[in-house]
Amino acid sequence: MSEYPLAPASGRLRGMSESLQLNGERLWARLERLGQVGALVGGGVSRLALSDADRAGRDLLVSWMHELGLDVEIDRIGNISGTRRGTRTGAAVMTGSHIDSVRAGGRFDGSLGVLAGLEVVERWNELGIETQRPLVVSAFTNEEGARFAPDMLGSAVHQGALDLDAMLEVHGIDGTRLGDELERIGYAGTAPVAARRPSAYVELHVEQGPVLEREGFEIGAVEAVQGISWTELTFDGTPNHAGTTPMNQRLDALHVVAQLACEVRRVVEAIGGAAVGTVGRIEVQPNLVNVVPGSVLCTVDLRNTIESLLREAEAQCFESARRFAAEEGVRLTSRSLARFEPVPFDEGVISTVERCAQARGCKTRRLPSGAGHDAQMFAPHAPTGMIFVPSKGGISHNPAEWTSPDECLAGAEVLQDVLRELADAPR
Ligand code: GLV
Ligand code: MN
Ligand code: MN
Repeated sequence: MSEYPLAPASGRLRGMSESLQLNGERLWARLERLGQVGALVGGGVSRLALSDADRAGRDLLVSWMHELGLDVEIDRIGNISGTRRGTRTGAAVMTGSHIDSVRAGGRFDGSLGVLAGLEVVERWNELGIETQRPLVVSAFTNEEGARFAPDMLGSAVHQGALDLDAMLEVHGIDGTRLGDELERIGYAGTAPVAARRPSAYVELHVEQGPVLEREGFEIGAVEAVQGISWTELTFDGTPNHAGTTPMNQRLDALHVVAQLACEVRRVVEAIGGAAVGTVGRIEVQPNLVNVVPGSVLCTVDLRNTIESLLREAEAQCFESARRFAAEEGVRLTSRSLARFEPVPFDEGVISTVERCAQARGCKTRRLPSGAGHDAQMFAPHAPTGMIFVPSKGGISHNPAEWTSPDECLAGAEVLQDVLRELADAPR
């Protein structure tokens, strides 16, 4: 006998005999409320990690966790975790994501996964549902990596992939030290890191790409996250007078970066397949109309689902960078900001996501993730998977990011089903 209320036999849940329904309006209201924190005029949010807006978002999230009766813990890298107890102690099932954003981002990236976790908790509380294992809902520090590199920093420290003390020393694009910013916003917690492995980890996220919408799928069962390579390059030439310096006597750092930006595109297009490459940040010194650019910092983001091809792109791009710099006579220095190999997810979790989605009548396909996610930090240690819902027009890291209320709810309900199954799975 199931204690679940019966779901309607038509519409979104067609084909499903009985299933627990979440409160979609409540989930949407929380998305809207959190979306007001750091809201941008015209839509979207700006909640760079450990900014004042991130602090305000964290405060709201923690207040919701307390209202739901969760045991709230802040760890030493600022990850927020709320635990709903199980009928037995032991390793918890975890879900969550992040609430930091890029400088001008959408309201769904990260927030959906965290707030769907809260909706699952609230519904289980209302229905008096008990699970054997505890359920933990987490929001990880600095998933975006936009202010402090690398991305997935909080979840990586949580699972011991990155060293806590080294990460506290990381300096952001504005020169601030991560550990100082954590203290400043009041989220330098005391709970230990690298101490807990979940029994399983499942994260709901918007796809952030075009595949599900274009092909008419409602749910994506994520198979893997592609490899990510972030490098910062600094080219130092000579600032000089724009009017008097002959073209053959310039040591123009921006000219080199312009060549490199074109080369990154040429290289990844030649490799083809899943290869992508981006020069996303450029800082020019002295950045004046009448001065030859003396110094330029830029970043290169390369990704691929296949590690050997990612290495190939790195080798070609950086060999070209060295050649362009030598030809212009400028000095090149570089440092790695992030490097993650492709991460496969657990076949058992992937097929559970597929089965739960299909049981709810959702059209479902497997796909890899183009974006990095906190889930990938758990994959080496526990059965891990992700659920994707469509992103309108494939747009993300943009205020126009959009996933409809029905699509968010469908993803949250599949998340619920998967979490329930995992939380009651035999030990
Ligand atoms: C995180 O959003 C990433 O850059 O993939
Ligand atoms: Mn995200
Ligand atoms: Mn993101």
